[in-house]
Amino acid sequence: MLFINYEEIKMRQHANPLSKVFKDIQPIPPLKEIFNDFTKPLHLDIGCGSGDFLMNLAKNNKNWNYIGLEIREKLVIKSKSKLKDESIDNLFFAYGNAEYLIEDCIGKFPVDVVSSVSFNFPDPWFKKKHHKRRVVQPLLINKISQLMANGGYISIKSDVEELFEYMDLIITNSKIFNTYIYQDSEIIHSYNPINLKTNREMYVTRKKLKVLDRIYKKI
Ligand SMILES: C[S@@+](CC[C@H](N)C(=O)[O-])C[C@H]1O[C@@H](n2cnc3c(N)ncnc32)[C@H](O)[C@@H]1O
Repeated sequence: MLFINYEEIKMRQHANPLSKVFKDIQPIPPLKEIFNDFTKPLHLDIGCGSGDFLMNLAKNNKNWNYIGLEIREKLVIKSKSKLKDESIDNLFFAYGNAEYLIEDCIGKFPVDVVSSVSFNFPDPWFKKKHHKRRVVQPLLINKISQLMANGGYISIKSDVEELFEYMDLIITNSKIFNTYIYQDSEIIHSYNPINLKTNREMYVTRKKLKVLDRIYKKI
């Protein structure tokens, strides 16, 4: 079994989202209980890892709200404790399998509240028999679309070409989202206007590996 040392928290490198232990989630509270101003545009980062990327985003873009969803509880506990020290009021970290967390928000969140969603460098689960453990699945894309207004965005990034093509196929096959290229003038209004990088993206960039990315717009 592979272990990863994330800022001194020892844990399994990959969590199997289909395991029974991940049937339980800690539901995301109503937005008005977690944000100072819940009417701001809302971004969800699925598989947010250590949370550093979202902390930076939230500090730099006070006109957005952010929720990070993460299946490894120790990372969420650590992220929440960093958040307390920083007094940031536009960021929340949620523990659980993203599929169940999102499902729980349908009917609880205001209609069409989510402006954008990111999947940054999801776990690749290389073996074919493990593809069903990959986080991007038709059901999740459908559930996300139920929280999002037309014109909302999904962004995917990966350094694994086969996984990237797999995610692309699932999202385009949904017939809910079309591939989209931001106009220059739109980037400033996106969830990540100054192109901050996640920990994985910084690592991949240092190693001079190729980053594949694509944006989809809800039609
Ligand atoms: C390779 S890491 C990337 C972390 C971060 N996005 C980055 O770019 O540095 C993938 C993350 O997704 C999380 N994850 C995997 N499946 C998930 C699921 N079904 N729901 C929520 N998080 C998940 C993993 O625990 C892990 O932290």
